[in-house]
This record gives sequence, C-alpha cells and structure tokens, in this order.
Amino acid sequence: MPDFVKVAELDELDEGTGLLVEVNGEQIALFLVKGEVCAVQDKCPHRGAPLSEGQLNGTEIRCPWHAAKFDLITGKVINPPARRDLRCYPAEKRADGVYLSLAPDATINESSS
Ligand code: FES
Repeated sequence: MPDFVKVAELDELDEGTGLLVEVNGEQIALFLVKGEVCAVQDKCPHRGAPLSEGQLNGTEIRCPWHAAKFDLITGKVINPPARRDLRCYPAEKRADGVYLSLAPDATINESSS
C-alpha cells in the first residue's frame, strides 16, 4: 500500500485547469477530471514543457509547446511528437485535501495496454 501525502487543498483544484505541485523534488501536474483527481509527471517527455499549463479536453491533456496529447487516466501518448507515455501517480480526494503517492501507479499504465 503506497504512502499518500497531502499536496493541495480541495479548493485549489478546478475542472479544466492544471495545478502544479512539488513533492520530494518531483514536479507533478494535478487535474480534476469528472470529479476525480489525475496526477501525472508535469514535464512533457518530448521537450519538457509544463503539462500543468496544457489544455485539458475531457481526459486528454495537450502539451502547451508542440501539442502532443496524452490520456490522463492511462498516461498513454495519443498524438506525437511525444513518444513516451506519462508517469501516473495514485491520487485521491479526501475530506481535508488532495493526496497522492509518489510510487508510480504501474497498474494504471499496464491495465490500459
Ligand atoms: S514539449 Fe511537449 S510536445 Fe514538445
């Protein structure tokens, strides 16, 4: 069972916009998608753009620099130029805030392939 740490207050997350948080030196982008929290690496695997500043469309995030698209639920690349999938993290809303674990959620990426 991964250890969860509080990374944000509930009112800091809005549908449609990303939130950048830093945990143990790792920059992680949080998104609220249909009421659920998705947490992925903030740095685009193509050239390092901040995905927390990308454009959200449903469960897809579009990179702000070169428009690669990723699925926030699975981390999978949908559109190039990025070729590598995003690292996803287990995240959840609790009564007192948003929590995530730094243990990459391997089950998310594995179950989608
Ligand atoms: S930096 Fe994200 S697509 Fe190029």
